[in-house]
Amino acid sequence: MQKRVSQLFAFAHPVSLPKLRDPSLLKTQCYVNGKWVDAKSKKTFIVDNPSTLAEVSKCPEFDQQDTEEAILTAQSAFTSFRKTPARERARLLRRWHELMMENMEDLALIITLENGKPLADARTEVKYAASFFEWFSEEAPRIYGDTIQASNPGCRLMTVKEPVGVCSLIAPWNFPAAMITRKAGPALAAGCAVVVKAPGEAPLTALAIAELGHRAGIPAGVFNVITALENTVEIGKVLTTHPVVKKVSFTGSTGVGKILMNQASSTIKKLSFELGGNAPFIVFDDADLDVAVRGLIACKFRISGQTCVCANRIFVHASVYDTFVQKVLEVVKTFRIGDGLDSETTHGPLIHDRAIAKVHEHVQDAVSKGARIVHGGERLTEVGARFFGITLLADMKPGMKICDEETFGPVAAFFPFETEEEVIRVANETEVGLAGYFFSRDNKRCWRVAEALDVGMVGVNVGAISDPAAPFGGVKQSGFGREGSKYGIDEYLITKMIMTGIDT
Ligand code: SIN
Repeated sequence: MQKRVSQLFAFAHPVSLPKLRDPSLLKTQCYVNGKWVDAKSKKTFIVDNPSTLAEVSKCPEFDQQDTEEAILTAQSAFTSFRKTPARERARLLRRWHELMMENMEDLALIITLENGKPLADARTEVKYAASFFEWFSEEAPRIYGDTIQASNPGCRLMTVKEPVGVCSLIAPWNFPAAMITRKAGPALAAGCAVVVKAPGEAPLTALAIAELGHRAGIPAGVFNVITALENTVEIGKVLTTHPVVKKVSFTGSTGVGKILMNQASSTIKKLSFELGGNAPFIVFDDADLDVAVRGLIACKFRISGQTCVCANRIFVHASVYDTFVQKVLEVVKTFRIGDGLDSETTHGPLIHDRAIAKVHEHVQDAVSKGARIVHGGERLTEVGARFFGITLLADMKPGMKICDEETFGPVAAFFPFETEEEVIRVANETEVGLAGYFFSRDNKRCWRVAEALDVGMVGVNVGAISDPAAPFGGVKQSGFGREGSKYGIDEYLITKMIMTGIDT
């Protein structure tokens, strides 16, 4: 028997739009070679607010030719930027970080308007995004090579690190600020020039960041931002095949990642891909259940479940299953769903109609195979077209779609388990491996399980693992390469060996 608990709505009608403190941050043109430009075709596309479907702004629909010009611009800027002293690159990034923090309210407002996440989450994202410029401003002067004992005693051997060259940075809509700075920060710290393809659903944040980069003094052509919606595939092809581009960094789905990787193989580019996840979240019988509930809420429902690292399959030991689900229910009943601009909203809309359709399909599939709806389970059309209720599904079983596919929405699916061996086997039974989480108070088990999970990132007794100091990235079909941390800059450097004969 399905139990339905009504969702709390923050409101069911549009709230009035606050104004930007600095309206010049809302750009309607692309940023190429230090200038604001339209598409040559003059075509534009509409950016809408997923909460209200109202038009927020228009952006240029760049095409192949526009993109090629941006790449050539970056190439010409790279020839001088690569010679910039590391301290100068550090100073530029530090200034950019400061400007982002000074303009946090405006940047957060732009994020909420185009992405829908609540303003509080948007502010957190701005801080997270700016932290990558701060972090990599500190890494820029710390790029080291080695001296090595050559096999031939008549030779001396060393390595130097050099910037890889022009980089294509292809960014997703779920973190329209942070996923750009996490790529551009290390790229510029290394001395590269970049062309950023802003997400078609949420391009305005990238353009505002470009404006702040301009004010920070980033030289013309070093940081370029291009936008497109319909032409995204065409542009993606140019960004991954153009011979001038030496590196592609992409965050997005595994399916698109495969296409881009295939395209990039034509010119053997250096790649880093952060792709889809299907994170297991395991609650053992010895866990502190309240800590695990807090971890799950942070991990599962951040921006309504639209993160690559959010829990997709929640495995709970049978002996604590009912208690845990009940505790989660008590918390989600307090959530307020609505327009992110409303200060009472805790959870916003999904990004587009496809996202709503996928979440609905996953819920229907699970229910048709025996899952029980504990909470939600339906669209919230009375709030808006792109809202889906916070959903708890119990009695999940193998063979349901959620076992194999990332839902990317506000659905917490609870699977019971009996033994550690069984849960590790099932947790690893997926083609992807981005993040995994578990909760236990047994120290030996903590090490055992952390090492047994086939993922790139593990949260032990913690559900929020995002940190500029931590290497972010996956294994298996979740991709390769690491972003953030001391490792992030390596993705934008090449190691050159220099051997010197001294006996000639
Ligand atoms: C992502 O969902 O791709 C990024 C999440 C994060 O950095 O916290």
